[in-house]
Amino acid sequence: MTQPFTLVIFGVTSNLAQKYLLPALYDLEDKGLLPDGSHIIGIARSPQKEGWIQEHLHQILHKENLHHKHEIKDQIKELLFTRLHYLDGHLDNPDFYQKLKIKLDGLNSQNIIFYLATYPDLYQPIFENLKLSGLSNLADGFVRLMIEKPFGSNLKTAKQLNKTLHQYFKEEQIYRLDHYLGKEALRDILSFRFGSSSVESIINKDHIDHIQVSATENFGVGERGAFYDKVGALKDVGQNHLLQMLTAATMEKPITFTNEEVTKERVKILKKLLPQKENIIFGQYEDYTAEKNISPDSLTETFFALKTFINNDRYQNVPIYLRAGKKLAQTLTEVTIVFKDKKNQPLRYHVHSQRDNFLVQDPYEALILDAIRGDQTYFNDVQEVEAQWAFTDPLSAESEKGIPVIYQPGSWGPQEADELIEQDGRHWINF
Ligand SMILES: NC(=O)c1ccc[n+]([C@@H]2O[C@H](COP(=O)([O-])OP(=O)(O)OC[C@H]3O[C@@H](n4cnc5c(N)ncnc54)[C@H](OP(=O)(O)O)[C@@H]3O)[C@@H](O)[C@H]2O)c1
Repeated sequence: MTQPFTLVIFGVTSNLAQKYLLPALYDLEDKGLLPDGSHIIGIARSPQKEGWIQEHLHQILHKENLHHKHEIKDQIKELLFTRLHYLDGHLDNPDFYQKLKIKLDGLNSQNIIFYLATYPDLYQPIFENLKLSGLSNLADGFVRLMIEKPFGSNLKTAKQLNKTLHQYFKEEQIYRLDHYLGKEALRDILSFRFGSSSVESIINKDHIDHIQVSATENFGVGERGAFYDKVGALKDVGQNHLLQMLTAATMEKPITFTNEEVTKERVKILKKLLPQKENIIFGQYEDYTAEKNISPDSLTETFFALKTFINNDRYQNVPIYLRAGKKLAQTLTEVTIVFKDKKNQPLRYHVHSQRDNFLVQDPYEALILDAIRGDQTYFNDVQEVEAQWAFTDPLSAESEKGIPVIYQPGSWGPQEADELIEQDGRHWINF
């Protein structure tokens, strides 16, 4: 059992905390994975009455949630209630951090995890004030920081954010989170590949015809319009989730399964990826501009398809096709390896784990647990996040130049995306 800790959620009323974090904490409680003496402090701006945070959690757990569809046990909920605390305050106000310090001291918190479930423009004042109030480092315990994607908006801003972070925290305290790395199905790719030498022996240019990575959704932007319209498909899921799937399927076996070695192998692949500006298609679904919080003349892409190569000996000249988009025919999250010898069935890794089954671990549950245990293997380090942006930057510059091709909702994206792969004598694998 790990040591007790206090999890501080900056932004406990956020969409993220409601949809993922608080339900994941319930599951950790249910599995007996929250050590005795552990606490959760939720922070938001509005002053609230005593007992409000418990009611907030109750509402969240009983609300319909696609990501958390199982029975809520009163006994577990009550146990979680006893750990929960609420503090109101403005995160850009230095005085608030004295209040936070008093609360943490009162709970005798020896180990602290700060979770940033709030706006990136608050990061700097948060880091600064944590440091000034002596909360960025503790003599006798750990302080860790969990940061959500998007991590910056291009290579330059990601580097700036890393630089800022390193003024206040050491790299071993920083947990940059991409929830795909918490997916059990993605972690299983590594066990499957490295657990079977016969599979591994055919994962190379002599046997592979090409690789496809798809993250398609059959729904639109929904309530995320204001955020999504500024970002687009390439930065929303391409720069992070698709690259995580690709690296899991193609990285070399690490010498040991330590954080450093696993991350090093992921980074090696990312650094060898060749962005090809001439081989990328951007699309936008019809009537996207009529959606809530979308600019009527928006040129943001809701779809992209691209071809790339890994410039190393193992995958030399093996084409890799990536695509992602919204309002498509089907929701599909998978990596497919197609072999030259057609007797070998394509190897299809489904990365979307269905959570109807309580036994399937939720990615946030896995990642919070990793952070509690101090395991950074499935988080992005400074090099990884910068290598992702170095690949994405030249491609997103293309998106900014052009007008996306309009495609029909319910289709598989623009015709041009089919042509991108069909001109090579191949086709997208959709079902
Ligand atoms: N939502 C998702 O599905 C999702 C997925 C992946 C990553 N993320 C990332 O997660 C983070 C949160 O996103 P979100 O969409 O969940 O945010 P959100 O719903 O807009 O919530 C923002 C939170 O920050 C709090 N807040 C804002 N300004 C504050 C201030 N000055 N002082 C104290 N608290 C303040 C808000 O509390 P009050 O307004 O109640 O005060 C609220 O709890 C972002 O970095 C986002 O990119 C979100």
